[in-house]
Amino acid sequence: MERALALLAAGDVVAIPTETVYGLAGDATNGEAVARIFEAKGRPRFNPLIAHVASMEMAEAIADFDPLSQKLAEKFWPGPLTMVLSHRAASGIHPLVTAGLDTIALRMPKGLGAQLIAALGRPLAAPSANTSGKISGTTAEAVAADLGSRIKLVVDGGATPVGLESTIVKVEDGRLRLLRPGGVPAEELEAVAGTKLLRNAKAGIEAPGMMASHYAPGAAVRLNVLDVAPYEALLAFGPKRVAGAEAAAAVLNLSERGDLREAASNLFSHLQALDRSGAKTIAVEPIPHHGLGEAINDRLARAAAPRDNISIDS
Ligand code: TXA
Ligand code: MG
Repeated sequence: MERALALLAAGDVVAIPTETVYGLAGDATNGEAVARIFEAKGRPRFNPLIAHVASMEMAEAIADFDPLSQKLAEKFWPGPLTMVLSHRAASGIHPLVTAGLDTIALRMPKGLGAQLIAALGRPLAAPSANTSGKISGTTAEAVAADLGSRIKLVVDGGATPVGLESTIVKVEDGRLRLLRPGGVPAEELEAVAGTKLLRNAKAGIEAPGMMASHYAPGAAVRLNVLDVAPYEALLAFGPKRVAGAEAAAAVLNLSERGDLREAASNLFSHLQALDRSGAKTIAVEPIPHHGLGEAINDRLARAAAPRDNISIDS
């Protein structure tokens, strides 16, 4: 933690654990540090990053909170919720973080990462700690394997408990729009907001992370399979197996007992492990769509999308 703090204070980047996934963090007020993040990730473009804070005081110095956003912060922070808010002029955040938008994505995380933000006394910009287009790292080992040659330090906080990225929402005229499903299920947000989430994306891409080809393992991914071939690896869910499972090249179960929270926490590490098995295809059993299932299915659909080079986020 001391080394991490020294590197961050000097404008360098460090991979840090949060409750969702590991983040590739740099001082959000330091343009050189933010540029290093893009460099280390190999991002094809400067997409807006999430600014991570350690307190409401820090958050309110950066963005204006409407009443609903305030309520969501009270309910879900610290936690796996990111809110897109209107950005205050004198926030100190370097413009590279917001990519020139007048809004800013803010999140108050849990874990060792949060302790580093508090100790530094400045917000950290942090995309997920993975090379552009790759699966987000949920263990220090996975992050080191992917980015280890390009960054000086990974703070090892063990496996991240949520296992996939934060939910991103934005308040529009008192209604809540879902920009990216994630660690907080839509149902929980709707219960607090008192209305259904707006879901249809507006014209233009508001969260570039919503690009189709994303979170891609090396192997092809086949979804909602009813049977698996012997040359395929199987990503299973729940107690019952699809036809052919006993002959599959490799099998990993997201959650034997059919628990979506456990499944989310295993998603990226299991995809990575099945990828390493050498199978050309990963077949995925159907996963229910409620609760965290929405975010799991969203990430899997991106992993299965046709590969091309138009993915502009990571
Ligand atoms: O759980 C998480 O959210 C992780 C951990 C490290 O906090 N971070 C993460 O960051 O997933 P990243 O950069 O991989 O994804 C951030 C998403 C991108 O899709 C980006 O386009 C969107 O947030 N975003 C950032 N600022 C935005 C803004 N002002 N308006 C709309 N979308 C924004
Ligand atoms: Mg990412």
